[in-house]
Amino acid sequence: MSEIKLLFRAALATVVLGGSAFAGELTANATLKADQPGAPISRYIYGQFSEHLGAGIYDGVWVGTNSKIPNVRGIRTDVVTALKDIHVPVIRWPGGCFADEYRWRDGVGPRDKRPSRKNNWWGGSPETNAFGTHEFMDFAEQVGADPYVSINMGSSDPTEMREWIEYMVSPGDDTLAQERRANGRDKPFNVPFIGIGNESWGCGGEMMPEYYANEYRRFSAFFHKNDDNKAARVASGANAFDVNWTDVVTKNAGRFMDAISLHYYTIPTGEWSKKGAATGFDKAAWGKTFAQTLRMEDLLQKHIAVMDKNDPTKRIGLYVDEWGTWYDVEPGTNPGHLYQMNTLRDGVVAAANFNIFQRHTDRVKMTNIAQTINVLQAMILTRGDQIVLTPTYYAYKMYAPFQDSTAIPLDVTAPEIDVGGSKIPAFNASAAKGKDGKTYIAVANMSPDDSVKLSVAMGALKAKAVSGQVLTAEKMDAVNAFGAKPAVAPAPFKGAKLSGDKLTLDIPSKSVVVVAVD
Ligand code: AHR
Repeated sequence: MSEIKLLFRAALATVVLGGSAFAGELTANATLKADQPGAPISRYIYGQFSEHLGAGIYDGVWVGTNSKIPNVRGIRTDVVTALKDIHVPVIRWPGGCFADEYRWRDGVGPRDKRPSRKNNWWGGSPETNAFGTHEFMDFAEQVGADPYVSINMGSSDPTEMREWIEYMVSPGDDTLAQERRANGRDKPFNVPFIGIGNESWGCGGEMMPEYYANEYRRFSAFFHKNDDNKAARVASGANAFDVNWTDVVTKNAGRFMDAISLHYYTIPTGEWSKKGAATGFDKAAWGKTFAQTLRMEDLLQKHIAVMDKNDPTKRIGLYVDEWGTWYDVEPGTNPGHLYQMNTLRDGVVAAANFNIFQRHTDRVKMTNIAQTINVLQAMILTRGDQIVLTPTYYAYKMYAPFQDSTAIPLDVTAPEIDVGGSKIPAFNASAAKGKDGKTYIAVANMSPDDSVKLSVAMGALKAKAVSGQVLTAEKMDAVNAFGAKPAVAPAPFKGAKLSGDKLTLDIPSKSVVVVAVD
């Protein structure tokens, strides 16, 4: 059986246990195929998305040079330090829906001369443009991340795109490069990724796929990919299961793109009008959340199938450049600011998705969680000069060794459980060989009640030592609160035992476990 088939089997094969109303211990066996290394796991799988939305940029990243909050050139030091610590590889900016109304010229030049606009997509809030191209590039450079710039296709034209690109990357003496220099940046910015439009089927212009493909080709003609502009061109991709979009766009414009995006949000109820609460939820909501989030597997398979048809050499990457949980906003907050709390559930959701992405890295080359700070499934929440690192942040931290690792097939059959009426596999898992030569195994236990005893046959791997970390808490909706010791943070994992060629992991309910095997 091919490695890919093995991996799919791992994802799909389940055994119905007939419900698990009571806390218990589930058992499962896994086989590690260390002698059959798979595709590289790009570090960009662990990317971020930061939009001009609510307090995502203003307060979250940008506090201004005169702020009492410690900052470097107006950018929060605490946030940069935290993001460096999880090795953020790429940040997508400025949107989102915001991108297709954004005029780059509003955000360059002296800050006190920049125009104020209305952020029509997100609560009508004032957009001061204090944070523009130079500030974003500075932020990315401080974090050590690559910039991924989404350009305005929906309400702009190819000239505006071409000029923005020239402004950012031209090394020459042309007027746009000189303008950049006059604005404080001598050498060109490093811009490895440029998205052409965002959600062009919706907020980015309400286009049909055939129309978008034509427009995309027109913009591509003026993109001028060359020695100065080496950016990967990313086409605006489908909404969730709209496979026809991916089919038409890759068929009609595939040769002009390096990647196409895909957006999928986890909404517990599946209903935009009443999505479900971020905290104070019951087991039924937990079960629904995981049932929804695990659809990512099927979603990727469907889009990859049409891409394989239109691009059999797998030249075009699939970038899941918006994903994550989307709940009802916190009561009393601006509904347009998408501010939600982040609990243990979100940390486990993140890990479950990482395990899925890592099984498809021959096609999935980047993902960007929505969104980095104060918006949707955030890594960081800020309040004045305080920050909180969320359970999702810690999931990213635990999975950092998977960046630029090599996938190792892990053949595993997870028991199926019933959580408040939703049938889901109790856990999912993935494995890889890290850059440091160690083998990493990660497990997301999605059962709110049951621990899992996982026996891993290590096969060709001669393991000598194992160590790891676990992320869990007493309560399903445990949060990390401002000014308090984090309730959900990685702790040393004591449940690993090596015996001969067998590794046994005792994984607590509702947890994320990552172990390193030497
Ligand atoms: O992440 C919030 C919004 O969700 C983005 O602006 C948009 O692209 C998507 O609909």
